[in-house]
Amino acid sequence: MAKDYIVKDISLAAFGRKELVIAETEMPGLMACRTEFGTTKPLKGARIVGSLHMTIQTAVLIETLVELGADVRWASCNIFSTQDHAAAAIAEGGTPVFAIKGQSLEEHWDYLDKSFAFPDGANMILDDGGDATLYILYGARMEAGEDLLSVPQSEEEVAIKAQILKRIAETPGWFAKTKADIQGVSEETTTGVHRLYDLHKKGELPFPAINVNDSVTKSKFDNKYGCKESLVDGIRRATDTMMAGKVAVVMGYGDVGKGSAASLSGAGARVIVTEVDPICALQAAMDGFQVTTLDDVVETADIFVTTTGNKDVIRIEHMRRMKDMAIVGNIGHFDNEIQVAALKNHKWTNIKEQVDMIEMPNGHRLILLSEGRLLNLGNATGHPSFVMSASFTNQVLAQIELWTKGDEYQPGVYILPKHLDEKVARLHLDRIGVKLSKLDAEQAAYIGVSPDGPFKPEHYRY
Ligand code: NAI
Repeated sequence: MAKDYIVKDISLAAFGRKELVIAETEMPGLMACRTEFGTTKPLKGARIVGSLHMTIQTAVLIETLVELGADVRWASCNIFSTQDHAAAAIAEGGTPVFAIKGQSLEEHWDYLDKSFAFPDGANMILDDGGDATLYILYGARMEAGEDLLSVPQSEEEVAIKAQILKRIAETPGWFAKTKADIQGVSEETTTGVHRLYDLHKKGELPFPAINVNDSVTKSKFDNKYGCKESLVDGIRRATDTMMAGKVAVVMGYGDVGKGSAASLSGAGARVIVTEVDPICALQAAMDGFQVTTLDDVVETADIFVTTTGNKDVIRIEHMRRMKDMAIVGNIGHFDNEIQVAALKNHKWTNIKEQVDMIEMPNGHRLILLSEGRLLNLGNATGHPSFVMSASFTNQVLAQIELWTKGDEYQPGVYILPKHLDEKVARLHLDRIGVKLSKLDAEQAAYIGVSPDGPFKPEHYRY
């Protein structure tokens, strides 16, 4: 049989497998899912398309989904985030995967398309950033004759449009069928969740979706503590710059911004935060950070990191004013936080993979990380396994919920119930030696909860 995968080098599988063994010991939530559901196989019959960074941690997620009975095909959701040894290990294990670190945008959409190629079609999506969902929904509209993406606004849109048109020409009706077959989607990240709520508001979301990001055990851990470890890791691996004493600007003080500011300040950098939301600005100030505008500090700071999930946050006029050898990077989901397109006609010197030096008209040079794509996954290996275990345990529970009870849900965006959120946290306590105290019946009654939880009302913000 022809090989059903695209990876950089299948001989990296043995190395990937060794790192998988280490990761499994750090992912107690996923391993507990294997123990709890490995024999009942609640995902039997599910044909899941995964579009999520193809890392070692994701490999443990994939093998958990397979152990629970699912058929899985996988693509990465970012052109730079794949760990080639992880992809090789998954391919060798028999799960089709299409991901290479440094793949082109055209390959990105072609690989996503290939990950839908189950003989009987896909029926579930596990998404990170919404590309897989968008591919099907945009494709179905264009197949029905809508003139979407008629004037592509970016290289990204040129690539997705070309792939959709190719699929329509090769298999007319494919998008409509796939859209009808999908029973649900679980979405990993803030930016993808924004897209889902937006689709639902416009009446364009045809299936139920679970917002994994807003499980407390996801966004308050992965986005925050994950970035706390992986942001500085990315900058160091890219530049080897001395962090202590440098002035670093973190744009955005949401969950990712909080983790990023903590990461840089933990490394000794003097951190300045920019925000548009008065609540987050006040939080940053009371966490001890100077809060001001980018305009105020753009000429003097050494390191710039966007964490907003918004577009055009660092603009060309900012980059023209930066000091020589300023480091510029993004840790938000998409690359439009920095106006990289406006730098294309400048002189680029590639230093090494995912690190470029760009000469500005005034002779100053900028060090741009991962061409403006998320630098913790492009320049380093993303978050550590332990925190990804919490995120991915939510993903597994969301897939089980949608696959086994999907018909009880109307199209819309849902969050997992709090008892499951608490369960995910509980599964991670033993590994780090945490002992929980227990409420007695009187105490529980006094604060109005059950001794076994949930311990907080829905409106509690952690
Ligand atoms: P969030 O919504 O909690 O935080 C974003 C913050 O940026 C908000 O407080 C908002 O007020 C602020 N903001 C928006 N526009 C701004 C502007 N022009 N200037 C200054 N501040 C601005 O979102 P969260 O969860 O922190 O996620 C941020 C991004 O990071 C998203 O794209 C998300 O998908 C991505 N992400 C990346 C991860 C990674 O490992 N690289 C991990 C988790 C999320």
